[in-house]
Amino acid sequence: MSDAYRQTWDLSIKHPEAFWSQAARAIDWITPPDTTYDPDRGWFAGGTLNTAWNAVDRHVANGRGEDCALIYDSPVTGTVERWTYAGLQDEVGRVAAMLEARGVGRGDRVVIYMPMIPQTVFAMLACARLGAIHSVVFGGFAAHELAKRIDDATPRALLTASCGIEGSRTIAYKPLVDEALASAQHEVESVLVFQRPQVAAELRAPRDHDWAALREETAHLPIPPCAEMAANDPLYILYTSGTTGTPKGVVRENGGHAVNLAWSMPAIYDVGPGDVFWAASDVGWVVGHSYIVYAPLLAGATTVLFEGKPVGTPDAGTFWRVIQRHKVKTFFTAPTAIRAIRKEDPEASFLQEIGTGDLKVIFLAGERADPETISWAEEHTRLPVIDHWWQTELGAPAIATCFGLGDTRRKRGSAGFPVPGNAFAILGEDGQPVPDGKSGAVVMREPLAPCAFRTLWNNPAGYAKNFTSFPGFYETGDAGHFDAEGFLHIMGRTDDIINVAGHRLSTGQMEQIVATVDGVAECAVIGADDALKGQIPIAFVIPRAGASDLESLAPRVIAEVRSELGAVAALKTAFVVPQLPKTRSGKILRNVLRKIMNGEDFPPPPTIEDPGALDAIRAVVFPKAAA
Ligand code: COA
Ligand code: AMP
Repeated sequence: MSDAYRQTWDLSIKHPEAFWSQAARAIDWITPPDTTYDPDRGWFAGGTLNTAWNAVDRHVANGRGEDCALIYDSPVTGTVERWTYAGLQDEVGRVAAMLEARGVGRGDRVVIYMPMIPQTVFAMLACARLGAIHSVVFGGFAAHELAKRIDDATPRALLTASCGIEGSRTIAYKPLVDEALASAQHEVESVLVFQRPQVAAELRAPRDHDWAALREETAHLPIPPCAEMAANDPLYILYTSGTTGTPKGVVRENGGHAVNLAWSMPAIYDVGPGDVFWAASDVGWVVGHSYIVYAPLLAGATTVLFEGKPVGTPDAGTFWRVIQRHKVKTFFTAPTAIRAIRKEDPEASFLQEIGTGDLKVIFLAGERADPETISWAEEHTRLPVIDHWWQTELGAPAIATCFGLGDTRRKRGSAGFPVPGNAFAILGEDGQPVPDGKSGAVVMREPLAPCAFRTLWNNPAGYAKNFTSFPGFYETGDAGHFDAEGFLHIMGRTDDIINVAGHRLSTGQMEQIVATVDGVAECAVIGADDALKGQIPIAFVIPRAGASDLESLAPRVIAEVRSELGAVAALKTAFVVPQLPKTRSGKILRNVLRKIMNGEDFPPPPTIEDPGALDAIRAVVFPKAAA
């Protein structure tokens, strides 16, 4: 074990204020905090700062203006572009001036529904500069989901692009935005549209503005100064799946976020000024917020923005090419991406041909990294491959091997050890700790680390619910165990959230959509194991008595989920079944459905009302076996 890790973790738990006040020195404060932690006011209360200043301007002020800040590598458009810190400062300033000209100021919300292009990064940082609160919505969500977020965040402006590029497909964004705005209750004053050469979006005056034209019109205006924000002022809202159909708006605060992320870069990822860091995620997810945009820039490193997929853009060598071309030192991706590469290139011939350049370490997160995937990656790259764990609510890793603190201990199947600042317990249903090796609810002791949420937008009661089951602890919603050596193993969820290709989705939300389809009497959606995506959703529906057109029921269910939730839901299979397995009190046994789909053999659970339901479902799911 690394002594540095052990000492750092001990200090962070025994003396959190000393630990985090030391970490806060990495940030430029306008007014230093008057306290490190206050249960009511949160972390670094009394302090004021600007996150964009810390991510961009201060590096220029410190003489690093010509160092590379951002590399945009887009195999889908054949583009590689670079921005120095000075260039990034200019771009962010220009977008801030455009937003200010549209009336956006401190505390206003700005929804960003954009693909993986540099303008998205400029827009996020421009909001941070102005003190406006951005809410980025992942492009794979449908208009209806975008509308829900618009109604909850009530933004003054919405920023979008004419299209996203998904592998070989071009997806027009503006029609989705128009549909969302038409169905939302809230009226957005201004829509800024970045026109990409692949698709020309139609603009509706006076609401819509062409990005380039507005930039031109506002070019004479001074760049707005960095707003002075309180440490506990919101920086952004990021919606994530809860257990209901209503997404949870996780609120991130300026101060704790900046301190925690700046600390994490050297300590976890071993990345500092001048190093190249690449997180192959999407800015629509928390990984993209923290590790494509904010953390690498706060640390003065170079970040890579990649517009493409691990395979098919153009092939399974694309990741290694980007790593090699840009001298990436630390790489972060999801296990599903490695599985996709392995499927296409099992012998890793692209990797042998291209190499890994300056790469020192690979980090995985988003879903449990199965031991086989880690083995394959370690064997072929000959580099440490580190699984680590976190959630949108936390904003930064909470379980990891702190590579930057000299720790290299790993065990395949485990996400590592508590990251300094985070204390875990595994509790049984009675709220008591369970012995090592035994599975229970994964909970975290209060106070959570500085990056973690302290409320949900418009939903303080929803926030409080995370702390009620186990007083004094935050309930992560995950199940897992500690082993005898202190490794933490995260094995799954305790609720109905599933993880599809590293994307967090709610089966409860899908059930709500399926239930509205004409002809559906009852339904259940479960996450079944999938060799590529980790899990995939499967719907089971009972038709309404007398319902006609049964042939089209399953395709209509699939189409409805895609159109209401979005392509990202990846619901491709629906079974029409005569009955669902239920307890005597009428509760659907979703666990049983999952086991059937996974091909597991098991005795009927004692609580089941009608054991015959199992064979009836198996006959539909595996008709050949039944015949
Ligand atoms: N805009 C519009 N549509 C999008 C989208 C976006 N930003 N992102 C995904 N979609 C669509 C995809 O085109 C796909 O549509 P389809 O059903 O018509 O093919 C659907 O949503 C599902 O997308 P995805 O989960 O990405 O599956 P895929 O089959 O296209 O690719 C992988 C499979 C494994 C290559 C891909 O999921 C992957 O790279 N995963 C890594 C995920 C990751 O990094 N997660 C971050 C968490 S750390
Ligand atoms: P998100 O909020 O989208 O980042 O999703 C968080 C959830 O993804 C966690 O609660 C876990 O269920 C799952 N998850 C993320 N990283 C890991 C990991 N390394 N191992 C297991 N599960 C993970």
